[in-house]
Amino acid sequence: MCGIVGYIGHRDAYPIIIKGLQRLEYRGYDSAGVAIYDGKGINLAKTKGKVEDLKKKSKETISVEGNLGIGHTRWATHGVPNDVNSHPHYSNSGDLVIIHNGIIENYESIKKELIKRGYTFHSDTDTEVLVNLIEEVQKTENVKLGKAVQIALNQVVGAYAIAVFDKKKPDELVVAKLGSPLAIGVGENEFFIASDASPFIEFTNNAIYLEDEEMAIVRLGKEIKLRKIKDDSVAYPNILELQMNIEEIEKGGYDHFMLKEIYEQPRAIKDTYRGRLRADLGVIKMAGIDDHLDKFLNANRIIIVACGTSWHAGLVAEYIFEDLARIPVEVEYASEFRYRNPVIHKDDVIIAISQSGETADTLAAIKLAKENGAFVFGVCNVVGSSISRETHAGAYTHAGPEIGVASTKAFTTQITVLTLIALKLAKEKGKINDSEFAEYLEELESVPGKVEKALESNPLIEIISEVYKDSTNCLYLGRGYNFPVALEGALKLKEISYIHAEGYPAAEMKHGPIALIDEQMPVFVIATKKGHYEKVVSNIQEIKSRKGKIIAIVTEGDVQVKELADHVIEVPETFESLTPLLTTIPLQLLSYHIAVMRECNVDQPRNLAKSVTVE
Ligand code: F6R
Repeated sequence: MCGIVGYIGHRDAYPIIIKGLQRLEYRGYDSAGVAIYDGKGINLAKTKGKVEDLKKKSKETISVEGNLGIGHTRWATHGVPNDVNSHPHYSNSGDLVIIHNGIIENYESIKKELIKRGYTFHSDTDTEVLVNLIEEVQKTENVKLGKAVQIALNQVVGAYAIAVFDKKKPDELVVAKLGSPLAIGVGENEFFIASDASPFIEFTNNAIYLEDEEMAIVRLGKEIKLRKIKDDSVAYPNILELQMNIEEIEKGGYDHFMLKEIYEQPRAIKDTYRGRLRADLGVIKMAGIDDHLDKFLNANRIIIVACGTSWHAGLVAEYIFEDLARIPVEVEYASEFRYRNPVIHKDDVIIAISQSGETADTLAAIKLAKENGAFVFGVCNVVGSSISRETHAGAYTHAGPEIGVASTKAFTTQITVLTLIALKLAKEKGKINDSEFAEYLEELESVPGKVEKALESNPLIEIISEVYKDSTNCLYLGRGYNFPVALEGALKLKEISYIHAEGYPAAEMKHGPIALIDEQMPVFVIATKKGHYEKVVSNIQEIKSRKGKIIAIVTEGDVQVKELADHVIEVPETFESLTPLLTTIPLQLLSYHIAVMRECNVDQPRNLAKSVTVE
């Protein structure tokens, strides 16, 4: 995880790096550092804490002037978060300085070897080992920095996105990638390096995304040279023109990115189906599916692999694929799937879901499925991400950048894409007729408006949040399509407010969790009109008779649950399979408000990072 930023050109590097690191803090925020070349030497400052702390420290302790620099925001893997373990790291001579996102797995054996050769180490990090290995290669092989990086990387096992420079040659930056993302922004005789394009989007729309096992020597006044790390052969840069704009990555008047992203959902859902759903023509057009329709129609089964919130979206998809298209579906945690020797057939279709497109376990699951001959389809948000490139085909969610660490619009747009796919397959397989299909398309088109309506409950949700903000435990219950929503609601609460929460299928209550219920226990129940309504009402009665506090998400106009529950939050009526797109909204808002009231850092919850690029 971690975010990296670098700059070489004619502007002051420091403000670009600091602002860039702030935009990348979603990737890790336990420590940060910066190194600037000022024309004579390297000025380096680093500290435990956030980029804001780094800003203070660097202004007080170093000269920040210079046109070449690198910076890092860290999510610790090797070594506790402290000043010394923060990046950048110097080599022993003090000539080289490096930033690194990833893990060098064989660093201990390399470190032992370097110690024998007289190297000393100040930190516990794998990164300090790497920069000294590069220095050792430079010395022993008498090669330039680029070549030394290439030779050194051939000796390491692991994942990396690195940027390194040599103060003896301050007109170049060397970068390399394997497993962690690295983008190069290409300006007019200036270059930007970053984990994603957000640090440089106001300077240039032109970007090169390095492929795995590629490196680049970025030199002022020269064209970028790309090389394959394995054999030093030339690789050709593919310069993409980015569509992202600066407004998308700023808070736009909201207090937090999470709130902004919750409110963006009507627009995001629309963007997801825009150009794909044509209710007027009665068709769904999705190139990724159209080009491989036979794979889906002849699939033995669909296996969905994902982690966290994306896994919850996969669970919703399981219901809708089986319900509408009658294709058997299994939903797997990517982290389990990759290690449990799963049975994978050539006629299985794997759907990998990932907002970031960088999740290490999901990537590994994809590779395993491909090795076994399965067709792999990706559902990603981040364009050009590793998963979008690793899969045979895919569909983007088009949610726009999601910066709050807790996924919100990623979840609803993933469900939207998966619903489009399920509907398309249902139609192709003749499982629904033309008029049912047309009704579905029409209803899906009404969802953004209904999400807007659901968002209108925000003031009520704020009041309810005040009542439950000091709870220590919460239960979330749902059935059918809303069981995954219960899981997702519980995840949202625990990750940003640190309240223990569990999601359960409502009927499972009596097999254990009911023992927890007393007057202290808030129980959030999704009880919309369709989908086992009467059965959920019985479950609510069971909670009530044990004095649990009931907060119910109900369909507009509900009377039955209103009589039983302590609080009700209404959402508009829709098809049962589309209810997750609405019922999840109040649960997102609830966890947001509770976290704010508990003074938690909503956008950057402790111990978490947005892209989990380590296993
Ligand atoms: C929860 C959350 C995580 C991610 C998970 C997978 O709010 O954000 O659980 O859903 O780390 O990430 P992606 O979707 O990027 O693969």
